[in-house]
Amino acid sequence: MSTRSATTRRPNRVGSPRPADLRCELLVNPLGLDETAPRFSWKLSDARTGARQTAYQIQIAAASANSTTTDTSQLLWDSGRVESADSHLVPYAGPALSAHTRYHWNLRIWDHTGEPTAIATAWFETAFLTTDETAWRNVGARWISLDRPAPTGDELAPCPHLRKTFALATAPREARLYITARGLYEPWINGQRIGRDVLAPGWTSYNNRIEYLTYDVTTALRAGDNAIGAILADGWYAGNLGWTQAPRHRQHWGTEPALLAALRIVNADGTVQWIATDATWRATTGPLLFSDLYHGETYDARRELPRWSEATRLGNLTRGWTPVATPELKPIQLNSKNTPPVRPVEELPVLARTEPAPKRYTYDLGQNMVGVVRLRIRAPRGTKITLRYAEMLQADGTLYTENLRSARAIDTYICRGGGVETYESRFTFHGFRYVEITGLKSPPPPSALTGIVWHSDMPRTGDFTCSHPLINQLQSNIRWGQRGNFLDVPTDCPQRDERLGWTGDAQVFAPTAAFNYDVSTFFRKWTRDLADDQDAQGAYPDVAPDVLASMYPGRKNGNAAWADAGVICPWVMYRHFGDTRILEENYPAMSRWIGYQEKTSGGLLRPDTAYGDWLAPDVTQPSWAATPCDLIGTAYFAHTTALMVRIARILKKDTDARRFDALHAKIVRAFNRAYVTADARLAGDSQTAYLLALAFDLFPEKLRPLAIKHLRRCFDRRAQHLSTGFVGTPLLGPVLTAIGHTDLAYNLLLNETYPSWLFPVKNGATTMWERWNSWTPDKGFGEVGMNSFNHYAYGAIGEWLYSVVAGIALDPEHPAYRVFRLQPHVDNRLTHASATLESPYGRISSAWRRTGRSFRWDVEIPANTCALVLPPLPPGATLDAVQIDGQPWSKHPGASAASDTGTDARPAIALVAGRYRITLETGGRVS
Ligand code: BGC
Repeated sequence: MSTRSATTRRPNRVGSPRPADLRCELLVNPLGLDETAPRFSWKLSDARTGARQTAYQIQIAAASANSTTTDTSQLLWDSGRVESADSHLVPYAGPALSAHTRYHWNLRIWDHTGEPTAIATAWFETAFLTTDETAWRNVGARWISLDRPAPTGDELAPCPHLRKTFALATAPREARLYITARGLYEPWINGQRIGRDVLAPGWTSYNNRIEYLTYDVTTALRAGDNAIGAILADGWYAGNLGWTQAPRHRQHWGTEPALLAALRIVNADGTVQWIATDATWRATTGPLLFSDLYHGETYDARRELPRWSEATRLGNLTRGWTPVATPELKPIQLNSKNTPPVRPVEELPVLARTEPAPKRYTYDLGQNMVGVVRLRIRAPRGTKITLRYAEMLQADGTLYTENLRSARAIDTYICRGGGVETYESRFTFHGFRYVEITGLKSPPPPSALTGIVWHSDMPRTGDFTCSHPLINQLQSNIRWGQRGNFLDVPTDCPQRDERLGWTGDAQVFAPTAAFNYDVSTFFRKWTRDLADDQDAQGAYPDVAPDVLASMYPGRKNGNAAWADAGVICPWVMYRHFGDTRILEENYPAMSRWIGYQEKTSGGLLRPDTAYGDWLAPDVTQPSWAATPCDLIGTAYFAHTTALMVRIARILKKDTDARRFDALHAKIVRAFNRAYVTADARLAGDSQTAYLLALAFDLFPEKLRPLAIKHLRRCFDRRAQHLSTGFVGTPLLGPVLTAIGHTDLAYNLLLNETYPSWLFPVKNGATTMWERWNSWTPDKGFGEVGMNSFNHYAYGAIGEWLYSVVAGIALDPEHPAYRVFRLQPHVDNRLTHASATLESPYGRISSAWRRTGRSFRWDVEIPANTCALVLPPLPPGATLDAVQIDGQPWSKHPGASAASDTGTDARPAIALVAGRYRITLETGGRVS
């Protein structure tokens, strides 16, 4: 887009401009970074029209954790005044940082009038600054575990408790706990649980890399005797993972969970000492008789170990505590977790209680959720309470658990007796809306049970709402689908014996995910997992971390639309969050993937690969033939190669860019020769086939109009219903809008009959279903072998709700919304729609409302950005019909004429930062 420069003539002073939301590596005051050149981001909080930054200055100094200010006499780096509007991911360029050090950074901004803002301060703290395990060994840390024979068969073993006591001469000045596990850990110091994280350290490809976390434990320690401990569980590392029919369905990376921890203590006199996991620790087992991600856990409260992580009563605690094992495990990369861990994020009350069968008390939380429950109960000692979980009920009101397949999903609590007891499971999670309690003579009140929602603690950034209640429920279902499946890894489902990081699902949903939440660091972590498990030939796996490789050794990778996540996810994250490092980091693996496809194609056509347009509705007539797998593969090959052209250019690898460009042209020619007829018909003649070829721009220009006709025909013969699966569905909205058929996209969106997005909503869904017909009124539950009620893939329509219905869209040329589009496509069946997005530069909002013959549209453009605004003009109308803040738009000081370089050649308005009310007389019609 090009704009005529718009200056602010009438600044409306609202508060003073200031730097806000300071971040380092996209995190607020991160504790434990291991980036050697961290990047700084901030927002300019300035409500004036045209507000923007003209310069910045960053100063960095090492400081003690207790001080909140920067000692400018001790500056490590001073950027000086930099004449630049950059405020996002500005890299550190000073001398090498030291490990285990807190740095304060001061930021000053100069605004568009040349005035400096007040100084804002934030901090970051380094951890080991190396991924080499030797750094841990050097401070005495060894992997430790409970010394016992490895469990065999399907036996689930009790969870180890490990501990050590030590004395400190003085209360520490500061202390940090660096900790990780092969398995899951929960840290304790002096009787106090450390942090709120659950399922830590999360799931990585444990053959390659494990993440560690850092906790500030200064106040947990004291002068005199101290104790540190941890409870361990199998988790993804050693527990059940993958379906039982597979040759291996547990212990994929190891048999016994192990702990690695290093406590760094800065004494009052400034000397440093380390307390680390080593042979001096002792271990035992306690109340957790087992805890497994799929099967749940059994907790016998009679076997609790009172005060086990306290230093008092030391003598009594030695009984039953045996020396730990210090296994020599293969050294592994250890990197600091630089993405929010999984945490309890919300509590849901019970809405209804029933007793569908004698003494089977069933509680409805009203929302299909993921996490655990908290049970508060009073019952005699030894009472065995069983909790079972389900997403749906059967017709008789009892739990429907068949779709969990072999996942038992049962928690058992055996009461201690003698008062109110609280139980919350620790090392398992369930996907459920209903909980059944058995083992009690009378039903506990609804208040006895609370749903505790767990997910990666990603900051919420987006919101969408409109005048159609079913679409609002759809948006809620999409969000809950994301919440339930973003648990350190983007998983397909959260309830059955699967819960794997399916790559295809993740890539189709990534753009929607990036609207709902800040998933920049989440995907940076997961794309590392993906690259970690790329095979020697260059094929990306179907799931990351690649547990399928352990379930089915020798299995083939590199399946179309799934493996392509390796290129698409970093690209989507770059587009939404402007992070070039995710592109740099993944570039070698992405290039290998293109190379692999080139090598293993026949005449640049991809072979028939596994999944096709996964779960497209049943093909019942030959003329509705499903999309050929090789066509999907070849279309994706062209697409990922085209993305590589752009990525190589961004990374200034021009020779590569030219090579990818030439390859892309050849793939497109091969695609046309193989699949496109002279009258633009595609092999398969399916919605998905045309959507792919249009989305990825594979038709020669002259065939496009005919291809569009064929696509429309595919909808006509389905009575304006979709017939797409995982591959085609995400393309429906974006492609139909790009080719000028937004009306059809709205028809599909508003369909309430099968197959459609609103069909599950009409049938009570509170999350996205795996299948269009996971449940139907006439047939009941769908195919039991694979029927999740919490599968986000079809939620990929969310991107279209934000970007087309509400109209907040990325600019094709600029990442991260520094320049963006406001372009709602209005449909007469909606009277209003609005969205907000906390972008890397600040809050964007777009809220439109049709009333009678007029159209009112309130927009917000954050400081330091500008928007290309395309109002929904009625046919025949021109921009002359548009007013801003009650005056002709061209007179508004924030507005200027713009030419749109995108596909839509309509005249546009460029708006600088500010809030505007845009109105137009529509005569009742808008487009
Ligand atoms: C998963 C899907 C996944 C698919 C691949 C299924 O079991 O649940 O979401 O993409 O397998 O075929």
